[in-house]
Amino acid sequence: MNIIVAKNYDDLSAHAAAIVADQIIKKPNSVLGLATGATQLGLYQKLVELYHQGSLSFSQVTTFNLDEYFGLANDDSQSYHYFMFENFFKHLDIKKENIFIPAGSISMTEVGPYGQKYEAAIKIKGDLDLQILGIGENGHIGFNEPGSDFNSVTRLVSLSDNTIKANARFFSAPEAVPRQAITMGLATIMSARKIILLASGKSKAAAVAQALSGEVSEAVPASVLQRHQNLTIILDTEAAVMVK
Ligand code: GLP
Repeated sequence: MNIIVAKNYDDLSAHAAAIVADQIIKKPNSVLGLATGATQLGLYQKLVELYHQGSLSFSQVTTFNLDEYFGLANDDSQSYHYFMFENFFKHLDIKKENIFIPAGSISMTEVGPYGQKYEAAIKIKGDLDLQILGIGENGHIGFNEPGSDFNSVTRLVSLSDNTIKANARFFSAPEAVPRQAITMGLATIMSARKIILLASGKSKAAAVAQALSGEVSEAVPASVLQRHQNLTIILDTEAAVMVK
Protein backbone atom coordinates (compact mmCIF):
# COMPACT_ATOMS: atom_id res chain seq x y z
CA MET A 1 0.00 0.00 0.00
CA ASN A 2 1.33 3.38 -1.01
CA ILE A 3 0.14 6.36 1.08
CA ILE A 4 0.58 9.91 -0.19
CA VAL A 5 -0.15 12.77 2.20
CA ALA A 6 -0.78 15.82 0.06
CA LYS A 7 -0.26 19.40 1.25
CA ASN A 8 -3.88 20.35 0.64
CA TYR A 9 -6.92 19.47 -1.49
CA ASP A 10 -5.46 20.98 -4.66
CA ASP A 11 -2.27 18.97 -4.22
CA LEU A 12 -4.34 15.82 -3.53
CA SER A 13 -6.25 16.37 -6.78
CA ALA A 14 -2.98 16.95 -8.68
CA HIS A 15 -1.51 13.66 -7.38
CA ALA A 16 -4.66 11.77 -8.39
CA ALA A 17 -4.78 13.43 -11.84
CA ALA A 18 -1.13 12.50 -12.45
CA ILE A 19 -1.89 8.82 -11.76
CA VAL A 20 -4.99 8.79 -13.99
CA ALA A 21 -3.19 10.66 -16.79
CA ASP A 22 -0.24 8.27 -16.60
CA GLN A 23 -2.63 5.33 -16.88
CA ILE A 24 -4.33 6.76 -19.98
CA ILE A 25 -1.05 7.78 -21.64
CA LYS A 26 0.40 4.28 -21.13
CA LYS A 27 -2.83 2.59 -22.22
CA PRO A 28 -5.09 4.89 -24.28
CA ASN A 29 -7.94 2.36 -24.22
CA SER A 30 -7.91 2.06 -20.42
CA VAL A 31 -11.00 0.96 -18.52
CA LEU A 32 -11.54 3.31 -15.57
CA GLY A 33 -13.80 2.83 -12.57
CA LEU A 34 -15.13 6.23 -11.51
CA ALA A 35 -16.59 7.67 -8.32
CA THR A 36 -18.86 10.58 -7.55
CA GLY A 37 -18.77 12.88 -4.51
CA ALA A 38 -17.28 16.28 -3.72
CA THR A 39 -13.82 14.74 -3.19
CA GLN A 40 -13.53 13.84 -6.88
CA LEU A 41 -14.30 17.32 -8.24
CA GLY A 42 -10.72 18.61 -8.14
CA LEU A 43 -9.47 15.49 -9.92
CA TYR A 44 -12.09 15.80 -12.66
CA GLN A 45 -11.31 19.48 -13.12
CA LYS A 46 -7.60 18.75 -13.53
CA LEU A 47 -8.26 15.96 -16.04
CA VAL A 48 -10.51 18.29 -18.05
CA GLU A 49 -7.69 20.90 -18.02
CA LEU A 50 -5.22 18.30 -19.33
CA TYR A 51 -7.68 17.43 -22.09
CA HIS A 52 -8.10 21.10 -23.06
CA GLN A 53 -4.33 21.56 -23.10
CA GLY A 54 -4.13 18.69 -25.59
CA SER A 55 -2.08 16.47 -23.26
CA LEU A 56 -4.75 13.80 -22.79
CA SER A 57 -7.44 12.16 -24.88
CA PHE A 58 -10.35 10.09 -23.64
CA SER A 59 -11.38 9.00 -27.14
CA GLN A 60 -10.53 5.36 -26.49
CA VAL A 61 -11.24 5.30 -22.73
CA THR A 62 -14.13 3.31 -21.24
CA THR A 63 -15.58 4.20 -17.84
CA PHE A 64 -17.74 2.35 -15.34
CA ASN A 65 -19.22 4.33 -12.50
CA LEU A 66 -19.44 2.79 -9.08
CA ASP A 67 -23.01 3.56 -8.20
CA GLU A 68 -26.30 5.39 -8.72
CA TYR A 69 -29.28 6.22 -6.54
CA PHE A 70 -32.17 3.83 -7.13
CA GLY A 71 -35.36 5.57 -8.25
CA LEU A 72 -33.77 8.64 -9.83
CA ALA A 73 -34.03 9.30 -13.57
CA ASN A 74 -30.74 9.88 -15.43
CA ASP A 75 -31.61 13.54 -15.98
CA ASP A 76 -32.54 14.18 -12.33
CA SER A 77 -30.12 16.88 -11.15
CA GLN A 78 -29.35 14.83 -8.00
CA SER A 79 -28.48 11.69 -9.96
CA TYR A 80 -24.91 10.52 -10.36
CA HIS A 81 -25.54 10.46 -14.14
CA TYR A 82 -26.11 14.20 -13.98
CA PHE A 83 -23.10 14.74 -11.71
CA MET A 84 -20.78 12.82 -14.06
CA PHE A 85 -21.94 14.52 -17.25
CA GLU A 86 -21.94 18.03 -15.76
CA ASN A 87 -18.60 17.77 -13.99
CA PHE A 88 -16.67 15.52 -16.33
CA PHE A 89 -17.98 13.77 -19.44
CA LYS A 90 -19.52 16.74 -21.26
CA HIS A 91 -16.12 18.48 -21.25
CA LEU A 92 -14.20 15.56 -22.80
CA ASP A 93 -13.86 13.67 -26.08
CA ILE A 94 -15.08 10.43 -24.48
CA LYS A 95 -17.52 8.42 -26.60
CA LYS A 96 -21.03 8.13 -25.14
CA GLU A 97 -21.11 4.39 -25.87
CA ASN A 98 -18.02 3.93 -23.67
CA ILE A 99 -19.69 5.45 -20.60
CA PHE A 100 -21.36 3.01 -18.19
CA ILE A 101 -23.25 4.18 -15.09
CA PRO A 102 -25.72 1.97 -13.21
CA ALA A 103 -29.27 2.90 -14.23
CA GLY A 104 -31.24 4.13 -11.24
CA SER A 105 -34.52 4.22 -13.12
CA ILE A 106 -34.99 0.47 -13.74
CA SER A 107 -37.74 -1.46 -11.95
CA MET A 108 -37.19 -3.59 -8.87
CA THR A 109 -37.64 -6.82 -10.86
CA GLU A 110 -34.97 -5.82 -13.38
CA VAL A 111 -32.29 -5.17 -10.77
CA GLY A 112 -30.98 -8.75 -10.34
CA PRO A 113 -30.26 -9.41 -14.04
CA TYR A 114 -29.13 -5.80 -14.43
CA GLY A 115 -26.38 -6.28 -11.83
CA GLN A 116 -25.16 -9.39 -13.68
CA LYS A 117 -25.20 -7.48 -16.98
CA TYR A 118 -23.13 -4.66 -15.47
CA GLU A 119 -20.56 -7.19 -14.22
CA ALA A 120 -20.49 -8.87 -17.63
CA ALA A 121 -19.99 -5.52 -19.39
CA ILE A 122 -16.90 -4.85 -17.23
CA LYS A 123 -15.52 -8.30 -18.15
CA ILE A 124 -16.22 -7.81 -21.87
CA LYS A 125 -14.21 -4.57 -21.78
CA GLY A 126 -11.29 -6.47 -20.25
CA ASP A 127 -11.79 -5.58 -16.55
CA LEU A 128 -11.04 -2.36 -14.69
CA ASP A 129 -7.49 -1.09 -15.15
CA LEU A 130 -7.83 1.64 -12.54
CA GLN A 131 -10.58 2.14 -9.97
CA ILE A 132 -10.93 5.56 -8.31
CA LEU A 133 -12.60 5.64 -4.91
CA GLY A 134 -13.77 8.08 -2.28
CA ILE A 135 -14.77 6.95 1.20
CA GLY A 136 -17.84 7.54 3.34
CA GLU A 137 -17.58 8.70 6.94
CA ASN A 138 -18.68 5.19 7.96
CA GLY A 139 -16.02 3.51 5.81
CA HIS A 140 -18.25 2.75 2.83
CA ILE A 141 -16.85 2.55 -0.70
CA GLY A 142 -19.22 2.95 -3.62
CA PHE A 143 -22.45 2.38 -1.70
CA ASN A 144 -21.15 -0.75 0.04
CA GLU A 145 -22.27 0.03 3.55
CA PRO A 146 -20.91 -1.54 6.76
CA GLY A 147 -21.82 -5.24 6.79
CA SER A 148 -21.46 -5.63 3.00
CA ASP A 149 -20.12 -9.01 1.93
CA PHE A 150 -16.53 -8.94 0.69
CA ASN A 151 -17.73 -11.21 -2.15
CA SER A 152 -20.49 -8.83 -3.22
CA VAL A 153 -20.98 -7.77 -6.85
CA THR A 154 -23.22 -5.14 -8.51
CA ARG A 155 -26.59 -5.12 -6.74
CA LEU A 156 -29.34 -3.10 -5.05
CA VAL A 157 -28.51 -1.93 -1.52
CA SER A 158 -30.15 0.08 1.24
CA LEU A 159 -28.35 3.20 2.42
CA SER A 160 -27.43 3.58 6.09
CA ASP A 161 -28.78 6.45 8.17
CA ASN A 162 -25.25 7.85 8.37
CA THR A 163 -24.93 7.97 4.56
CA ILE A 164 -28.39 9.48 4.12
CA LYS A 165 -27.44 12.20 6.60
CA ALA A 166 -23.99 12.79 5.03
CA ASN A 167 -25.40 13.01 1.49
CA ALA A 168 -28.37 15.20 2.49
CA ARG A 169 -26.15 18.27 1.78
CA PHE A 170 -26.74 17.62 -1.94
CA PHE A 171 -30.57 17.42 -1.59
CA SER A 172 -33.27 19.89 -0.60
CA ALA A 173 -33.97 17.91 2.61
CA PRO A 174 -32.84 14.62 4.22
CA GLU A 175 -36.26 13.11 3.26
CA ALA A 176 -35.40 13.70 -0.41
CA VAL A 177 -32.33 11.41 -0.29
CA PRO A 178 -33.16 8.06 -1.93
CA ARG A 179 -33.06 5.14 0.51
CA GLN A 180 -31.58 2.66 -1.96
CA ALA A 181 -28.87 2.55 -4.59
CA ILE A 182 -27.30 0.26 -7.16
CA THR A 183 -23.60 -0.21 -6.49
CA MET A 184 -20.68 -2.24 -7.73
CA GLY A 185 -19.79 -4.75 -5.04
CA LEU A 186 -16.64 -5.06 -2.99
CA ALA A 187 -15.49 -7.99 -5.16
CA THR A 188 -16.06 -5.87 -8.28
CA ILE A 189 -13.91 -3.08 -6.83
CA MET A 190 -11.20 -5.50 -5.68
CA SER A 191 -10.99 -7.01 -9.17
CA ALA A 192 -9.50 -3.75 -10.52
CA ARG A 193 -5.81 -4.05 -11.41
CA LYS A 194 -5.01 -0.79 -9.61
CA ILE A 195 -6.98 1.25 -7.07
CA ILE A 196 -6.59 4.82 -5.83
CA LEU A 197 -8.60 6.09 -2.87
CA LEU A 198 -8.95 9.82 -2.21
CA ALA A 199 -9.98 11.32 1.12
CA SER A 200 -10.05 14.94 2.17
CA GLY A 201 -11.00 16.67 5.42
CA LYS A 202 -11.25 15.74 9.08
CA SER A 203 -14.69 14.14 8.76
CA LYS A 204 -12.93 11.27 6.92
CA ALA A 205 -9.99 10.87 9.35
CA ALA A 206 -11.51 8.11 11.52
CA ALA A 207 -12.79 6.08 8.55
CA VAL A 208 -9.42 6.37 6.80
CA ALA A 209 -7.49 5.22 9.89
CA GLN A 210 -9.84 2.26 10.45
CA ALA A 211 -9.69 1.29 6.79
CA LEU A 212 -5.91 1.44 6.51
CA SER A 213 -4.66 0.23 9.85
CA GLY A 214 -7.68 -1.30 11.59
CA GLU A 215 -8.84 -4.90 11.46
CA VAL A 216 -9.96 -6.13 8.03
CA SER A 217 -13.66 -6.52 8.70
CA GLU A 218 -16.97 -6.26 6.89
CA ALA A 219 -17.91 -3.68 9.55
CA VAL A 220 -15.52 -1.31 7.73
CA PRO A 221 -15.99 -2.03 4.01
CA ALA A 222 -12.92 -0.02 2.91
CA SER A 223 -10.69 -2.24 5.09
CA VAL A 224 -10.92 -4.93 2.38
CA LEU A 225 -8.56 -2.68 0.38
CA GLN A 226 -5.71 -3.75 2.69
CA ARG A 227 -5.79 -7.01 0.71
CA HIS A 228 -5.27 -5.32 -2.65
CA GLN A 229 -1.85 -5.67 -4.34
CA ASN A 230 -1.78 -2.27 -6.04
CA LEU A 231 -3.41 0.35 -3.84
CA THR A 232 -2.51 4.04 -3.53
CA ILE A 233 -4.20 6.21 -0.91
CA ILE A 234 -4.08 9.97 -1.40
CA LEU A 235 -4.98 12.01 1.68
CA ASP A 236 -4.78 15.63 2.64
CA THR A 237 -3.27 16.43 6.04
CA GLU A 238 -6.68 16.58 7.77
CA ALA A 239 -7.81 13.18 6.50
CA ALA A 240 -4.41 11.70 7.44
CA VAL A 241 -4.40 12.96 11.01
CA MET A 242 -5.36 9.62 12.65
CA VAL A 243 -3.29 7.31 10.43
CA LYS A 244 -0.51 5.68 12.49
C1 GLP B 1 -21.17 8.76 -1.78
C2 GLP B 1 -20.64 7.86 -2.88
C3 GLP B 1 -19.24 7.34 -2.56
C4 GLP B 1 -18.36 8.49 -2.13
C5 GLP B 1 -18.93 9.13 -0.90
C6 GLP B 1 -18.07 10.28 -0.37
O1 GLP B 1 -21.75 8.06 -0.75
N1 GLP B 1 -21.49 6.77 -3.13
O2 GLP B 1 -18.71 6.68 -3.69
O3 GLP B 1 -17.06 8.00 -1.88
O4 GLP B 1 -20.21 9.64 -1.23
O5 GLP B 1 -18.46 11.48 -0.97
P1 GLP B 1 -17.77 12.89 -0.73
O6 GLP B 1 -16.54 12.85 -1.59
O7 GLP B 1 -18.76 13.90 -1.21
O8 GLP B 1 -17.45 12.99 0.70
